[in-house]
Amino acid sequence: MLAQLHKASFNPAWDEDAIISLLTSSTMAWLGYIDDQPSGFVIIRIAADEAEILSIAVLPDARQHGLGRTLLTTAFEGAVQSGAISMFLEVARSNEPACQLYESVGFAHIGVRERYYSNDEDALVFRRSLV
Ligand SMILES: CC(C)(COP(=O)(O)OP(=O)(O)OC[C@H]1O[C@@H](n2cnc3c(N)ncnc32)[C@H](O)[C@@H]1OP(=O)(O)O)[C@@H](O)C(=O)NCCC(=O)NCCS
Repeated sequence: MLAQLHKASFNPAWDEDAIISLLTSSTMAWLGYIDDQPSGFVIIRIAADEAEILSIAVLPDARQHGLGRTLLTTAFEGAVQSGAISMFLEVARSNEPACQLYESVGFAHIGVRERYYSNDEDALVFRRSLV
């Protein structure tokens, strides 16, 4: 299911093997549902007291109904229960919906990784305190 949801939003997509190898004891994942249909997911990794968002996506037809924000709020709670005191992520500079989403839930832009992606696009680094 995670692979199907990932494929609907990313190219290249992570296949099932890639996702299974990602789901270790240090990662946590949640599915989000709209009308009983799996419509989005978030995967985070916990390292010591820091959490990182590895991926988040909502199916194109299900976007802008609040699921992305709900998934993040759920991930915050899960990260805190696992001992994290902050969360960070990287996002492509041009990904306006994602940047707006992160800012709307309290993330602050703390840095840039220049030409981070394979297409040479910069990544913006965002961080949010969880305490
Ligand atoms: C980013 C993404 C997960 C947002 O999911 P979503 O369910 O549509 O988000 P929500 O409906 O919870 O929106 C929450 C806030 O995000 C912002 N937002 C969401 N979509 C937006 C858009 N198209 N344009 C501008 N802001 C947007 C708004 O601030 C919104 O708050 P508001 O509804 O009060 O205005 C979704 O667009 C997606 O799956 N994109 C493709 C995958 C991706 O880019 N993932 C992030 C990689 S780092």
